[in-house]
Amino acid sequence: CRVVVLISGNGSNLQAILDACDDNLLADVVGVISNKPDAYGLVRAHHSEVDTSCVIAAKGESRAEYDARLSAVIDDYRPDLIVLAGFMRILSADLVTRYLGRMINIHPSLLPKYMGLDTHQRAINAGDSEHGASVHFVTPELDAGPVILQAKVPVYEGDSVELLAERVHEQEHAIYPLVVKWFSQGRLRMQDGVAYLDDQPI
Ligand code: GRF
Repeated sequence: CRVVVLISGNGSNLQAILDACDDNLLADVVGVISNKPDAYGLVRAHHSEVDTSCVIAAKGESRAEYDARLSAVIDDYRPDLIVLAGFMRILSADLVTRYLGRMINIHPSLLPKYMGLDTHQRAINAGDSEHGASVHFVTPELDAGPVILQAKVPVYEGDSVELLAERVHEQEHAIYPLVVKWFSQGRLRMQDGVAYLDDQPI
């Protein structure tokens, strides 16, 4: 399974997937694409001898223009699966539709709770006793595609955003490689907005 990973930053989820690939994930990360030239994830990719590309938004460029350039770079890698791992840009419906059923994202909340940004702060503010992360298929509506796998963590009294984020991250690194593995094994698909694992709706 040819995998392309899109990042904007640290790339710790990318690292978890690269590590799992080394351990026989049945997947090959064939390219890492960043919209930020200084994303640390690019360094991680180099260490693993994975090809990298930067697609940096030009001044005044429309979303449609940017996404057309991005999808040209994605397609050059001929991926079976596109993994968003901290890619901090909203993708146009056109681009998402092009990769429907082959693009996944990880979001730091128990979706459908807390779509969008600042999820840890919002969970703390709401007094939630649990929080977590979700891997989902990407659909045109932001963070609203069908969930594939979630991991929960407790929220402790007096938790800081940093501590909670760290706890969530640890879980992300466990569930994201697992979902990539399922996809590579051909066990995962999306049909009519529903995610299936081994032909069972999730
Ligand atoms: C993760 O928290 C993920 O849920 C969110 O962006 C963050 C990326 O972290 N989408 P990293 O770059 O993988 O370390």
